[in-house]
Amino acid sequence: MENSLSANTRLAERLVTRRSLMELAGVTLVSLGLAGCKSLPGMATLAALPQADVGLATGQTIAGVPVGALNGGTKPIYVAPPGSMDPVAHSVADTLFWGEQLMEHAMFFVMLMPGPELAGPRGEAERFQRQFADHLTRLRGSRLDRSNYGAFNNTTIGLANGLISYKRRMQLAQESGQMRSLVWPSFFDHTANEAQRFVGRLAQLNIGNATFDRREVVPFWADKMEEHSLFVAHLLDPDEKALKTAAETSAGLFGKMEAAPPASKDPCSRPHKPSSTLRLPPKRASRLGRSKASSIRPSRTMSVARPCGLGMR
Ligand SMILES: [Fe+2]
Repeated sequence: MENSLSANTRLAERLVTRRSLMELAGVTLVSLGLAGCKSLPGMATLAALPQADVGLATGQTIAGVPVGALNGGTKPIYVAPPGSMDPVAHSVADTLFWGEQLMEHAMFFVMLMPGPELAGPRGEAERFQRQFADHLTRLRGSRLDRSNYGAFNNTTIGLANGLISYKRRMQLAQESGQMRSLVWPSFFDHTANEAQRFVGRLAQLNIGNATFDRREVVPFWADKMEEHSLFVAHLLDPDEKALKTAAETSAGLFGKMEAAPPASKDPCSRPHKPSSTLRLPPKRASRLGRSKASSIRPSRTMSVARPCGLGMR
């Protein structure tokens, strides 16, 4: 048991690299969603960043319903078919999307809770990670329709609520000094709020309502992207000044967007090509052993492309 624990701890510690944390925090997409909003202050700087396309939505069937997948990143981003108001399709797409996010949140906690003194909370996070992985496997092996999607959603809500309770408990422990992990209280808060929104969305779908309210969607995602950007700025090497400035600029722009959401006809509401990488100065790229001046790979963070990349998602 002790050997296994030590091995797990060593593995977790090996996994914690600043680069991997930034990929999870969303560094590659700090300017996402703003490329089309040239009216925003400071946009000229961000609009000059390299572009990457999230790709066209390709159709596939999962759990017996058609869903779309954006394949422009390193993994697909699931969405309901264009124009669909089917609560079953939306439930499947949202569960695929958010289930992956919640699994990653748990993985993040595991990575940031090293050492034997954090074995308890780390073990809980590992259980959540496994629970969501198993749940996604169950989803893919299911056939959902109007008669049973509500029950499946209720199971998902139960799992998500368990994780939300854990995040809030850990947030309090970290804030009070009872726990000394490497997870910021604000990260527990951020991830709890994301999970809470997912729960709310599934509850809405369970009454057959798949609509989105722009007054909720835009401020929510602008706030989350602002926080992603701030996390990125904090995780960067202090020497990476250009990247830090870009992340902070993004945070400021998303903050403005949250405070004053663009009008309904603003380009932000239409699909566009988001920026997915930040460029390093050639000298720095060379020091880091990179042949190209691109920085962080678009990785799991492509998931945050969905809301802005598709407008009202
Ligand atoms: Fe997030």
